[in-house]
Amino acid sequence: MSRIDKLMSEMTLAEKLGQLTMTAAGYAVTGPVIAGDSTDSIRNGTLGNLLNLVGSKPIHEFQRIAVEESRLGIPLLVGLDVIHGHRTQFPVPLAETATFDPRLWELTAREAARETSADGLAMTFAPMLDISRDPRWGRTVEGPGEDPWVAVQFARAKIRGFQGSDLAAADSIAATAKHFAAYGPVTAGRDYAPVDISERTLREVHLPAFVAAVEAGAVAIMPAFTDLAGIPMTAHKALLRDYLRGQLGFDGVLVSDYNAIRELLLHGVAADLVEAAVLALKAGVDIDMMAGGYREGLPVALDRGLVTMGEIDECVRRVLRLKERLGLFDDPYRRGTIKERVSTVTERRRIARDVAARALVMMKNADDTLPLPETTHRLCVIGPLGDAMREMRGPWAAAGYEEPSVTVLAGLREAMPNTEVVFAEGVSISGTDRAGISAAVDLCGSGMDAIVLCLGEAAEMSGEAASRAFPELPGEQRALAEAVLDRARKDGTRVIVVLFSGRPLIVPWLAERADAFFAAWFLGTEAGNAIADVLTGRVSPSGRTPITWPRALGQVPLFYGQRNCGRPENPKDHFTSKYLDSPTSSLFPFGHGLTYGRFTLSNLRVTPEIATEHEILEVTVDVTNEGARAAEETVFLFIRDKVASVARPVLELKGFSKIALQPGERGTVQIPLPVAELKFLGIDLEPVFEPGEVDIFVGPSADRSLLLKASVTLRR
Ligand code: NOJ
Repeated sequence: MSRIDKLMSEMTLAEKLGQLTMTAAGYAVTGPVIAGDSTDSIRNGTLGNLLNLVGSKPIHEFQRIAVEESRLGIPLLVGLDVIHGHRTQFPVPLAETATFDPRLWELTAREAARETSADGLAMTFAPMLDISRDPRWGRTVEGPGEDPWVAVQFARAKIRGFQGSDLAAADSIAATAKHFAAYGPVTAGRDYAPVDISERTLREVHLPAFVAAVEAGAVAIMPAFTDLAGIPMTAHKALLRDYLRGQLGFDGVLVSDYNAIRELLLHGVAADLVEAAVLALKAGVDIDMMAGGYREGLPVALDRGLVTMGEIDECVRRVLRLKERLGLFDDPYRRGTIKERVSTVTERRRIARDVAARALVMMKNADDTLPLPETTHRLCVIGPLGDAMREMRGPWAAAGYEEPSVTVLAGLREAMPNTEVVFAEGVSISGTDRAGISAAVDLCGSGMDAIVLCLGEAAEMSGEAASRAFPELPGEQRALAEAVLDRARKDGTRVIVVLFSGRPLIVPWLAERADAFFAAWFLGTEAGNAIADVLTGRVSPSGRTPITWPRALGQVPLFYGQRNCGRPENPKDHFTSKYLDSPTSSLFPFGHGLTYGRFTLSNLRVTPEIATEHEILEVTVDVTNEGARAAEETVFLFIRDKVASVARPVLELKGFSKIALQPGERGTVQIPLPVAELKFLGIDLEPVFEPGEVDIFVGPSADRSLLLKASVTLRR
């Protein structure tokens, strides 16, 4: 008899439901606390999983109670939201995506797993794979941006990184792909709000990353808080049980979101906790996080014959199986026993700095404002984000809240020892006091060589429950920025804007007036050093925005992969798809980002030119760095299926690649494109391969005016 069979035969109902329950130990509570003190429940076997506990000492102590003092000695599973690093904070996921480097996505997850497991934890509630095309939605910051193909690569890299090659290893943790599915298109960008999208959009845009996560071996998935056309995901039998488990063969654990089972009452699909528990169980949710619904509701449901013991057992087995795969039965203390070496931690900080520098996106660099010339004697850092240590790490900093981060001011002072770097905050991030503006302006006017204007959101203005109806500069920052820009224009001083945010902000006026403009997102522990590396030219910027930046909120949702329509925009024709009061174009397109090089792409070729379904196309382009500095270019590969049975997007991303070139150097980028990737979901939503001509585009972003074009003919 296997270990799990034996345990199953010995467990009481209360013990089984304990394995299906996860409660917070109170480290970073993100919802109502219902659980109270968990110690007794662990001891009597009615609680099998914890979240929000940090540190190997307390975790091992709870583990000891579970293993030594509970009747059956089943080890605990302890998880935490390790979203972009544990103690060492890497850039927030949206920022990390901007590196367009799956190797780095995996590396930071691996490092996070090592650090997390060294702290005794065995599970993270990450990666978030939700696509966001609406900057109002605060959780945009936690995901890979707007593109489903990028999200697929991101999912694979993150699952590999967190789980490693052996889930039972002391430095591997269980990944939780979340939030399944289509959390991003919440109504009007309001967090938790209802979702209503087409079946096609669900399948083409929101599901692929989860398919990839399952294929990559993700051992846990978390259903979204939201509903989908009236059915809350926590109770979505068709998508959880039939699709995820049935069709995709997902055999891992489904862990509910925080209190989501109880929230089925407020969704209006359950009259009481018993009904809610039944709905979630029937849908296939294994672990009830924080609702207490399974422990309270399932015994009643069982009595009433609403669920069967078999259905409960199925879930219990999956949870025990996960614990077994994590190696917890063999050695419940394996994570958190070995203290990390100082050199490991130092190396991790180096990685954090490198990734942060690569995540920074240089949106504008008029007249080669940057890198800062060596003759910069006096530099003025202005703005509420200039010396804001706590903000640098960004939202969802897990246990990183205790660690100091490097600010822009500190980073620049360190990097430029011979430059006088002065600072004025001017205004606070969101306060209403303008009193500090004039002193800041005076400082800018006191013979500065350049001004670094650090503006943006506070970390907590993005993330969960952080939607914004006005995703612009908060507080009085616009007044500060305009005063500084006016003064700088008078003095002829260059202004470099470093904008911190968890989403694209609507700031066309700022991008227009700044000499240089960076999307700095939230770059984590090493933010200031990384920004200084780029500003001083030690590192050439290479980040690309993984999400379109709108000019006006009224353009939202704005994303590069829209379909054409019967009346595509034509400025000369009134009755075409446009606005009376705004351009339709973005402020910055998907993929945009400048470097210190000057790249030209030429000689695009695609072979073979006629291809069948099982062939692989080679898309090749020459890249030349005509600039005066070494830099790294990112090349995107898009396709367009011009005539198909279903209208296709004007561009679809199918690949990207990076190439580093010295000044004057020419190189070649080759991107393989399996023809099977040109299949799409036909009229009946089944994948189809349709013969005909497909355009292949290659270029530095989704800006169509910059793309080189070739075409390929598909035949059966
Ligand atoms: C709620 C969030 O939606 C989810 O992403 C997170 O994992 C849980 N809280 C646990 O903190």
